[in-house]
Amino acid sequence: MKIAMIGTGYVGLVSGTCFAEWGNRVVCVDKNAEKIEQLKQGKLPIYEPGLDKLVERNQIAERLSFTTDLTSAVKGADLIFIAVGTPPRLGSGDADLSFVYMAAQEIAESLEGHPTVVVKSTVPVGTGDVVEKIIAAVRPRGSFSVASNPEFLREGSAIDDFLFPDRVVVGVEGPRALEALTALYSPLARANTPVVVTQRRAAELIKYAANAFLATKITFINELADLCEQVGTDIDDLALGIGLDHRIGQSFLKAGPGYGGSCFPKDTLALLRTAQDYGIALRVVEETVAANEARKRKMALKVIDAVGGDVEGLTIAVLGLTFKPDTDDMRDAPSIPLIETLQRFGAKIRAHDPVGMKNAARVLENVMLLDDPYECVRDADAAVVVTEWESVRQLDLDLMRQLMRSPILVDLRNVFGRGAAQAGFQVSSVGRPASTQSDVTVTIQPVSGDPQPKQQGRGRAG
Ligand code: UDX
Repeated sequence: MKIAMIGTGYVGLVSGTCFAEWGNRVVCVDKNAEKIEQLKQGKLPIYEPGLDKLVERNQIAERLSFTTDLTSAVKGADLIFIAVGTPPRLGSGDADLSFVYMAAQEIAESLEGHPTVVVKSTVPVGTGDVVEKIIAAVRPRGSFSVASNPEFLREGSAIDDFLFPDRVVVGVEGPRALEALTALYSPLARANTPVVVTQRRAAELIKYAANAFLATKITFINELADLCEQVGTDIDDLALGIGLDHRIGQSFLKAGPGYGGSCFPKDTLALLRTAQDYGIALRVVEETVAANEARKRKMALKVIDAVGGDVEGLTIAVLGLTFKPDTDDMRDAPSIPLIETLQRFGAKIRAHDPVGMKNAARVLENVMLLDDPYECVRDADAAVVVTEWESVRQLDLDLMRQLMRSPILVDLRNVFGRGAAQAGFQVSSVGRPASTQSDVTVTIQPVSGDPQPKQQGRGRAG
């Protein structure tokens, strides 16, 4: 099939590349000429494991190309995807749809044949209707369909999430769009991937509901982590104990400093705005947003507590800055409010991230950024783990302790267990009592017979 992908952000670039991998001819379009030039040379604007090789392979096979010329990309395309950004409007929190509508207008002006226009950007309910009207206004007798096909990929595992999804959601209003999208996703039939075919409006809402639910799940476990600290037990054991109930599920039960990133904070706010417009109170989501905001600031107090109640004049080393590992994305990263709050209380910040330093430099002020994690902790009064990068997990704790002024470790991702205390650190974690930084986790045993090997409750989130 011939596909035009408008927007080369996370969703557009990953989706376009993966569609090409399935044998389609994909032209990715972006207004940013510099970005397109770089992509033509194989230089990616984002860090996503494995994406560079996939882009290169499909470019060489001439299935994937990049252009700023929307008109030429759209001409003759069977499917035209809109995957442009929908950033939150300053102040209100509702999604700014101007890029989506601009793309619709430009598509309308270049429309030919019988294409299906598919909105992949995360958009509020009813956006597909507006896109349809915009195109119809320019092409009253045009033959086209508008569908919704939200994307559920996570940064850091985007390619796997795209090529091996739990489900595909397709919102259509007629048979032609359904036929085109069913043909496009036919490679997933081999894995029996369910395709949820529904109305366009339902598909739009599913995306927001999924993100709000996951954000709520994380917030639930984070609040229980606070309780675990007080009652003197371990949140990871609790997460395992509830997560093995398949109705609850084990993923997204990893306690931490609060969720961040380009989706959860933005999409929960946009969902609340939609609900408000329809006179519905989504109280659970409202509380999730408020609790997560409060939590991010509260993490700074945890650090202040750990150093004895005052950070004025102290040097704090922050390990990991991006909102999660395997991405260079700093959008809504919990490290930002943490650092700003500590600075307000008079702390000097040194920080390290294995991949996100360039983006971190854009959003952080008065922070000494260091490429070497050991240089980062040198002479620090405390080290704080904010992002659970594998390279942070692998740090030599003995060496760290020798380099630091005081052996204080605030582990906001629970990456270090008993080893840290054994290395001489005074450790403060999330959802674990300060006194028992143990590696002991719940044992899973069959009803009869020998105990099974211990199952660690500290697996990767998500
Ligand atoms: C999310 C959704 O998962 C994805 O389906 C959607 O398309 C885009 O938004 P992403 O933001 O890339 O993906 O990352 P995700 O892995 O979901 O993590 C989001 C935030 O939640 C991160 O800050 C992460 O650290 C945090 N998180 C996640 C936890 O604190 N605990 C968990 O158990 C899982």
